[in-house]
Amino acid sequence: MTKKEVFESYDQFIFPTYSRLPAIFVKGKGSVLTDIDGKKYLDLFPGWGVSNVGHCHPKVMAAVRDQVSKLIHISNNFFGINQARLARELVRAAFPGKVFFCNSGAEANEAAIKFSRLFGKGERYEIITTMNSFHGRTMGALAATGQEKHQKGFAPLPGGFVTVPFNDIGAIKLAINERTVAVMIEPIQGEGGINVAEPEYMKAVRGLCDANGLLLILDEVQTGFGRTGRMFAYQHYDIEPDMITMAKGLGGGLPIGAMLAADKHAHLFQPGMHGTTFGGSPLVTKAALGVIEAIAKDKMLKNARVLGAYLMDKLNALKARTPVIREVRGLGLMVGVELTIEGRGIFEECFNNGLIINCTQSKVLRIMPALNITRKQIDKALNILEKAILKLTQDQG
Ligand SMILES: Cc1ncc(COP(=O)(O)O)c(C=O)c1O
Repeated sequence: MTKKEVFESYDQFIFPTYSRLPAIFVKGKGSVLTDIDGKKYLDLFPGWGVSNVGHCHPKVMAAVRDQVSKLIHISNNFFGINQARLARELVRAAFPGKVFFCNSGAEANEAAIKFSRLFGKGERYEIITTMNSFHGRTMGALAATGQEKHQKGFAPLPGGFVTVPFNDIGAIKLAINERTVAVMIEPIQGEGGINVAEPEYMKAVRGLCDANGLLLILDEVQTGFGRTGRMFAYQHYDIEPDMITMAKGLGGGLPIGAMLAADKHAHLFQPGMHGTTFGGSPLVTKAALGVIEAIAKDKMLKNARVLGAYLMDKLNALKARTPVIREVRGLGLMVGVELTIEGRGIFEECFNNGLIINCTQSKVLRIMPALNITRKQIDKALNILEKAILKLTQDQG
């Protein structure tokens, strides 16, 4: 297919539900993508937080290659070696509990929502979520999402969700009533603009959940798998949630999601209560085992901490030179640059110059590189970003 034919096919046959940049990528390695014309891009937002170990990590490729020739799919009515090993690894990385495997972040959150309903025994069902949160596009996850722009046009959404301001413990206190069953938050709101939960807030939320018999559900779909310099973001906070939901980085590019619930609640899911055909197949679970091995072997958590701090330092230095940067915030390699102006132009200028980042909430540049990015690649990216900011602000001035 020629480029023209690809673009025309999208126009004719694919719903325009995503805004797309005019690139057709054919190859990826680490933090570098190559398009159909052979142009190389530095990818500092690989797969919307999916490719934490970089594009086509050798450990993931080897795992997939090995598995694909043996067994790709088997129904969940049988046992599987990779699923068993992966569940053990996830529990080891987080806390004692049981795992439900699914295919995406939204589905992991749906599992958490249904689980909470069981916990509430038909008497309590309300889940407190936060403004600017993002939990997915399925109806339950969408109802949990605290952003009207994503919900518009899809009413009626399932009930049982109350949305309160983020980082506001008083608001949660006020929202708790006899129907409340859980609090669901992202440790760092990703799509919401890289808003980091304050340590006192996280501790206080845990305390409120304990005092009121509520489940604390942490959506680690974007923050999980080393993104913040620890395997899970909650591990920065000296608390333990009752449940975490995960997806994105877990599969190294293959579609997998998971919900982990602490042992004391694990009895709630019994045979026939929940399921999904593809959940935790031999292929995707093998890929995920490759991801976990890659993170450990390549010391990616440390790299995310060290280079995350380096990236933030450099961005703060850029802030001192550039009045359009209002704030730099984040944790590890999950970084947001809030601007005083719309970010779209800067993000497009970066793209034209071979750098992929993201722009969310219209004014926040979101930078979430692979955890094995190098200092040199960060320097190169920042050089392109600074030039883009200069160009755009000169154009506007
Ligand atoms: C925090 C969070 N939760 C849930 C989701 C939904 O995940 P998925 O797109 O895999 O359904 C996302 C996706 O961006 C997310 O960032």
